[in-house]
Order: sequence, then C-alpha cells, then structure tokens
Amino acid sequence: MTSHRRAGWTRRSVAARAAALGTAALGTAVLGAASCRSALAAQGSGLASHAARTGRLFGTAVRSPDLTYNAGTRDEVLREASLLVPEYEMKWEILAKSPGSYDFGGGDRLAAFAERHGLDLRGHTLVWHLALPSWLPRQLDAREAKRLMEEHVTAVASHYAGRVQSWDVVNEAIDPQASDGMRTSLWMQALGPDYIPLAFAAAARADPKAKLYYNDYDLECDTPDQDVRRAKTLEILTKLRRDGVPIHGLGIQGHLQAGRWPYDAGKFARFLRAVSALDLDILITEMDVSDRLLPAPEAERDATVAGLAGDVLRTFLAEPRATGVLTWGLSDRQTWLNDLPTHRRTDNLPQRALPLDRNGRPKPLWTAMAQAFDAATPMR
Ligand code: G3I
Repeated sequence: MTSHRRAGWTRRSVAARAAALGTAALGTAVLGAASCRSALAAQGSGLASHAARTGRLFGTAVRSPDLTYNAGTRDEVLREASLLVPEYEMKWEILAKSPGSYDFGGGDRLAAFAERHGLDLRGHTLVWHLALPSWLPRQLDAREAKRLMEEHVTAVASHYAGRVQSWDVVNEAIDPQASDGMRTSLWMQALGPDYIPLAFAAAARADPKAKLYYNDYDLECDTPDQDVRRAKTLEILTKLRRDGVPIHGLGIQGHLQAGRWPYDAGKFARFLRAVSALDLDILITEMDVSDRLLPAPEAERDATVAGLAGDVLRTFLAEPRATGVLTWGLSDRQTWLNDLPTHRRTDNLPQRALPLDRNGRPKPLWTAMAQAFDAATPMR
C-alpha cells in the first residue's frame, strides 16, 4: 500500500469532511451548528486537528445512546474526533439476538451520525471469543463453525460495506500461556488457527474496500508473557501476508495501566518496525490509561497517566506506518474501567483514564496526546 493512497485515504476523509461541510453548511439550519463543527474537527483545535498535521486520524469509541441523548458527549465527539468506533453496538451478541435475525439499529445510528457530520466510521469486531450471542453453541464441529462464522462476517461486513473504512476482523486470538500461543476460543477449537484467514477472506468478499485489521491487547507491555504475545502476533501476521490473505493492518488496543506497566520504548519500537516491514499499517484502537493502582490525589494520578501515555505515543508516532490513535471513550464519564470489579479502583473513586474529565475539560492526558501528535514523524 503506497503512502499517497493511504494518505489519500486520510485526505479523502478530510475531503469528505469538507464536502460534508458543504452539505453541513446547507444543513446547518436543520442539523444545527454541530455539523459544521464536526466537519472542521480535523482543522479545528481538538485532538483530530493535532493528528491531521501529519495525516493521521484521532477517533473514539462511542455508544449511540450517548450521542442521541447526551449533548455534552455529542459536542465533545464533534470537537475532538474525526473517526468513530462502536464500543459494543456492532458485536454479535447485540446484533443477532436470534439465529440469522440481525438488528443493525445501534450501528446504523452511529453510521448515520458519522455520515451526517463528515466523520469516518470503524467496525468492531467481527470474530471474537466474547460478546457471542447466547443462542450460539459454545462447541461446534468444523463445518458448523465455518458456516456460522462466515455467515456472520458476511452479514455484518456486507451490511456496512461502503460505510465502514476499516474492521477489526479478528480480536484477541492470542494466549501467551497456551503451548501454541493461541487462545482456545470456540473458533480455535473447531477450526484451528485457519479460522483467522477464513474470517479475513469472508470480510474481504463482503466489503472489498474496507481496511482489514487483526486487533489485540498488551502489545505495548514489557513482560515475558507479552514478549510471547508480540512474537505470536508477528508469526500470525507474517503467515497471513505470505499466504496472500487480505489484511491491511494491526490494531494495538492500548489499554495501558499507570503505576504497574513495565514499558521498554526500544522493544516497542522494534516490534512496530517489524510490523511495518510486513507492509502493514498500525493503529492504536482502544487507548485508555487505568489509574486503579495509583494513589487517590487527582493531580498526581493525572500526571502519571499523562506521562505513561506520552511515552507510549511518542514511540508509536515515530513509526511512519502508525496511522492514528483511537481512545476507548473521550470523557471519564464513559470509561468501561469503572464497570468491572476487576478493573475499578479499590477505593471506588472514578477512574481518570481518558483525555477529558467528567465535565469534558481537557486533562494532562489530552495535552500529552496533542504534544505527541505534534511531534509525530510524518507518515510514509
Ligand atoms: O447488552 C446490553 C444491550 O442489550 C443494551 O442495549 C445496551 C444499552 O444498555 O447495553 C448492553 O450492555 C452492555 C454494554 O457493554 C453496554 O454497557 C453489554 O452487556 C456489555 O457486555 C458491554 O460490554 C462491553 C465489552 O467490551 C463486551 O462487549 C464494553 O462496553 C466495552 O467497553 C468492552 O470493550 C472491549 C473491546 O470490545 C475489546 N477490547 C477490550 C475492551 C474492554 O473490555
């Protein structure tokens, strides 16, 4: 993939926003000023404008109820982001409450919002071991697993064809503790590692224009287990590329943990270079910074969170094939990290994991991200 095409993709996104500005300008009377603001996200003062200086994207995970009913969230998204990704509304358990019967309502609302405001949309996720519908048997023979997986990928990717610029096709397939490095998911048990190329091939047939990604977590972290995860990731990507499987990029989730996060910039940079050498783009897809292990004072938490994120993003954005950064929510009101006992703070204080505080004001993390974007190496 040559840089001008990729950059063109970004420029095309900006051009689409400019075009949207035209319709948005016309539609201002109808849609309100928001549409003009969103079309300028990449040229305004939000994080998308900092990312766009080197042709990169900044985006965020969203939930359609928040965009519909929460004007504050809507304004934050339109000010900061040029791309949206559904936090859960394109997952199998939400889309298909019964076999073969799909309700695309949530994802369609997000797609309509993105199109109305000149934003790009990313799909998440087609094949995963979690968020599976309750009716799906958790043990399948190879023939049934292949049929059900390919039918699902085809139904969803074809429904959003032309509206989604990229997909997390396979999510979290690796388990560093397993002898073969692979998570023993329903798909792995039924089909072996070939479920991965099968999923990508089905996605490419359903939406030949979308960029197709493999997505995983902890790839930034410097522990022996994550050394295994990085090696297994490269092994999978290398085989997919060698076999001519349609894959365009790696998604690095970026769920960081301040205060207990061994990080080695050189090791992460070498990993990024190895992925780039496979002629793949690299996207941080779900960034947030857990502060659950940090002392309570907010100023101290904010500084430590911003410091770690700045370190990781400076390394990431020094890589010319790094195409952008997506956070898993924009404001601390939204973070999933308060939802689960395994992730929330033991003192039950709300986490300060995202670029905006609970009132939508930029925090030190926002500043660290903006500065990292401003210092980024130009894309190749
Ligand atoms: O299921 C209901 C749905 O019927 C209802 O319409 C909707 C609105 O009330 O809520 C849904 O509830 C939950 C949803 O989050 C919204 O809160 C789902 O039950 C719950 O499973 C879902 O959790 C999501 C989780 O993935 C599982 O899909 C989290 O929001 C989301 O942050 C989390 O995101 C994952 C990424 O996909 C992959 N990487 C890790 C990341 C964090 O776990």
